[in-house]
Amino acid sequence: MKTLMTTDPDEAATFIRGGGIVAFPTETVYGLGANVFDERAVAKIFEAKERPADNPLIAHVGEISQIEELSGGITDDARKLIGAFFPGPLTVVVKRSAKVPLIATAGLETIGIRMPWHELARKFLAACGTPVVAPSANISGRPSPTTWQAVFEDLDGRIDCILQGEATEIGLESTVVDCTGQVPVVLRSGAIGVEDIRQIVPQTEVFAGGETSVLASPGMRHKHYSPRAKVVIVRDASEAAEQGRSAFIGFEIRSAHFDKVEVCASGEEYAHRLFAFFRECDLNKIDVIFCQAVDEKGIGRALMDRLRRAAEA
Ligand code: TXA
Ligand code: MG
Repeated sequence: MKTLMTTDPDEAATFIRGGGIVAFPTETVYGLGANVFDERAVAKIFEAKERPADNPLIAHVGEISQIEELSGGITDDARKLIGAFFPGPLTVVVKRSAKVPLIATAGLETIGIRMPWHELARKFLAACGTPVVAPSANISGRPSPTTWQAVFEDLDGRIDCILQGEATEIGLESTVVDCTGQVPVVLRSGAIGVEDIRQIVPQTEVFAGGETSVLASPGMRHKHYSPRAKVVIVRDASEAAEQGRSAFIGFEIRSAHFDKVEVCASGEEYAHRLFAFFRECDLNKIDVIFCQAVDEKGIGRALMDRLRRAAEA
């Protein structure tokens, strides 16, 4: 398949309306979208990404009013979080409407919904005229794409179109909150911290793992975010022992003996750069990537979550 490259959201949207699949930028990472109500188009996403069929997709809306056709009723807590954080990097999990095909939710009776604030994403969604389900636009297991070049690297020839925008601002995936139970539960951390969510719904819990995780957020048990290089979390650069070609990402400037170094001024910058750095290390045939640990505050919690998953692989 020939993959069309464009910067025009209207042109990209014609593929969605024709039953195709399109990668597009958001403020978190690039997504790979299809019309949520078109089962055959949704199936193409799973095929192109080599995504396990038991991992549900997030539906992206351009208008708050589109939530109605996706959900079969939302709780007060969900309504409050939507009011506070839409548009933005938050996904709320609610009951799905009967209109949503089960392939999109991987057989679940719930659906994740998110409204990006990214301008090009909003123009694209408006032109699609329908909610668009989209996982991150990478081959499953690889780091999520934060540039169109990363999407191209993984999916050129497998998808209809890439809507080219800038590198994504946040660089980590959205915060996912399950709002179908007694209290909201954060299933995946992201730029919107649990502290922020508790300002709106104080009883919000953070999912702690364990048995029910399989039911709660199927995607979290799959391998994620891994470069080909080995990832090792260190407290500082001096903890990094020489092991072949090595790289370092963190806050320290004294890190001269590495083959590749990324010094970040803040946790936000670290998050913004991480996945692209992983990919650059792979292109540079790096064997080991040393990642400096961060405080688990604000975006730091999401950053440590992604680092641990990458280090596990
Ligand atoms: O920032 C993001 O969320 C990006 C952009 C493109 O919006 N999307 C993204 O999608 O990261 P994906 O598919 O790579 O990750 C979605 C996560 C998975 O862990 C999945 O299991 C979880 O959200 N999820 C989706 N629907 C769910 C549901 N109904 N119940 C529980 N977890 C759900
Ligand atoms: Mg993903």
